[in-house]
Amino acid sequence: MDHFLYRDGILHAEDVPLPEIAAAVGTPFYVYSTATLTRHYRLFQEALDGLDHLICYAMKANSNQAVLRLMASLGAGVDVVSGGEYRRAVAAGFPADRIVFSGVGKTAEEMELALRGGIRQFNLESEPEMRRLSKVSESLGKIAPVTIRINPDVDARTHEKIATGKSENKFGIPISRAREVYAEAASLPGLEVIGIDVHIGSQLTDLEPYEQAYLKVAELTHQLRADGHDIRRLDLGGGLGILYERSNAAPPLPLDYGEVVRRTVGDLGCEIEIEPGRLIAGNSGLLVSEIIYMKQGEGRTFAIVDAAMNDLIRPAMYGAHHDIVPVVEPEAGAELSPCDVVGPVCETGDTFTRNRPLPPLAEGDLIAFRSAGAYGAVMASEYNSRPLVPEVLVHGHQFAVIRARPTFDEMINRDTIPEWLEGPV
Ligand code: LLP
Repeated sequence: MDHFLYRDGILHAEDVPLPEIAAAVGTPFYVYSTATLTRHYRLFQEALDGLDHLICYAMKANSNQAVLRLMASLGAGVDVVSGGEYRRAVAAGFPADRIVFSGVGKTAEEMELALRGGIRQFNLESEPEMRRLSKVSESLGKIAPVTIRINPDVDARTHEKIATGKSENKFGIPISRAREVYAEAASLPGLEVIGIDVHIGSQLTDLEPYEQAYLKVAELTHQLRADGHDIRRLDLGGGLGILYERSNAAPPLPLDYGEVVRRTVGDLGCEIEIEPGRLIAGNSGLLVSEIIYMKQGEGRTFAIVDAAMNDLIRPAMYGAHHDIVPVVEPEAGAELSPCDVVGPVCETGDTFTRNRPLPPLAEGDLIAFRSAGAYGAVMASEYNSRPLVPEVLVHGHQFAVIRARPTFDEMINRDTIPEWLEGPV
């Protein structure tokens, strides 16, 4: 459920009609709902109720400072994967002991930043990384709390570009070698081994792979404890999928996922951490765009809109589906006809959908791409020198621009011309 509904024939974000935001900030823009973000976070809280747990929002899904501040104020922890994300977390007010550092290629500088600023734990992904962190923390006179990400070799049954738990993927250490890697980690002076980490992929619409992976984690917990490690925290990753296509069957709910967690690892006496990103932010946001032209091609109709692949890259990158709805509600019984919705970028890949049955559309109409709150704005670029799209947060009747559209001068003046190019070369 989200808070983007038609009222009196106009699509609203909570209590704000979208045309009002369009008039204020121009199109295209991203809009997020505070109520939906909050609701989704709370669904996970309820799902893990009674378990000692922390929900560490994976900010890679949507790292706007206002969204982060909301999450921090709800009591969430946060999962970061770069020095930039670490700095965002601190700036948004997450306490250091609620910041988890994941990622397959942390640099010594990033390690030092987090050790100095404070960190809940590092999730380590390889032996060289373990050794480097131990050196960095020793040199600072600190001991780094760590889990090690194991690769359980399960098929997450999702898009190949976002599956991470198969042995051929770059992530984690093979579970078959976990005991020797943990033995080495325990021997390194700058580390304190506190738990196990696993993350098998994103947009999972089936709970079975979780079940398989978490059972392996449970078994490994027993083995590592028998080897003398004090395993007291399990980071179970993120990845729960959302409904992108409303005509499809709904994926499992956080509550169902919580049952899997309880069943597989709930009685190990460990603190449970999860790292959801998409489920919290995805259906909490829309990308709103205006139709520039309706163009009749050979046997096809194109709606050319002012948003493009640089603003929302998921369709071009993963062939992802986003529901597209007109902001003015179509009349009941309006006839649907096939339409390609495309952006102005000079690539055929700049296509949001092909031959999608859509209600009548006209030049100047506003349309909304649903499910755009996660991996939307954060993956945007300025390709074709299109300034980044602004972001707006709605709360009841209020809305605020939480990232303004850069001016063209700001965009251009980030580049500098070296002196030796000022005159003839
Ligand atoms: N934890 C780790 C270690 C991750 O790598 C990820 C996502 C998450 C948590 C959060 O997963 P989520 O709950 O959001 O599924 N750009 C792609 C998704 C990439 C996901 C990368 N890792 C997309 O647009 O579908």
